[in-house]
Amino acid sequence: MSIFETIKKRRTIVPALFNNESVKRSDIEQLLEAANWAPTHRRTEPWRFKVVQGQVKDDLGLFLAKKYKVIAKKFSRVKQAKIMEKMNQSSAVILICMQRDPNESLPEWEEIAATAMSVQNLWLMATELGLGGYWSSPKMINYMHEFLFLEKGERCLGLFYLGHFEGERPERVPGDIADKVEWL
Ligand SMILES: Cc1cc2nc3c(=O)[nH]c(=O)nc-3n(C[C@H](O)[C@H](O)[C@H](O)COP(=O)(O)O)c2cc1C
Repeated sequence: MSIFETIKKRRTIVPALFNNESVKRSDIEQLLEAANWAPTHRRTEPWRFKVVQGQVKDDLGLFLAKKYKVIAKKFSRVKQAKIMEKMNQSSAVILICMQRDPNESLPEWEEIAATAMSVQNLWLMATELGLGGYWSSPKMINYMHEFLFLEKGERCLGLFYLGHFEGERPERVPGDIADKVEWL
């Protein structure tokens, strides 16, 4: 598959579309290896990943569901149940974290941008391996330090739900690039 084909094939695949097949550890390692080749200003390599599976994944689901209840402006039992459901439907969840350079030699946005580029690498690799993934950034990620140890300056930017799926990838045609470009 050419890089452009993989880019166009990459889609958000929600956990409801995953099947029960476990994602192999070697596949997850390949995703992480791809992530690690992202560009990075001053080579700070700010991306950090926590691979969550098994009992810890169940615990994470429970933590997020409880935290949702505490912080939700308009609590919905259905939404709360969906948090647990997504966790159960996923073979693994990768927490996307960013470690700020201790010397703050770069603005934070550059560290976030580099981390996002590493996620794109991971997501494209998942596409090539036939895996589905979904980057979710609920407000609860701001409380992740209550669930697991985060280093000083480390921040959680989302959850990447991962699983096998069957069938067609959802279609999405982006808006016209010509509307977003000026040739000067
Ligand atoms: C930084 C980031 C955060 C995201 N957070 C969420 C989220 O919280 N909930 C959600 O439904 N989708 C989230 N998404 C996924 C987008 O909804 C999805 O990428 C978009 O609908 C385009 O679909 P595609 O990924 O199939 O191209 C996020 C995507 C990015 C890049």
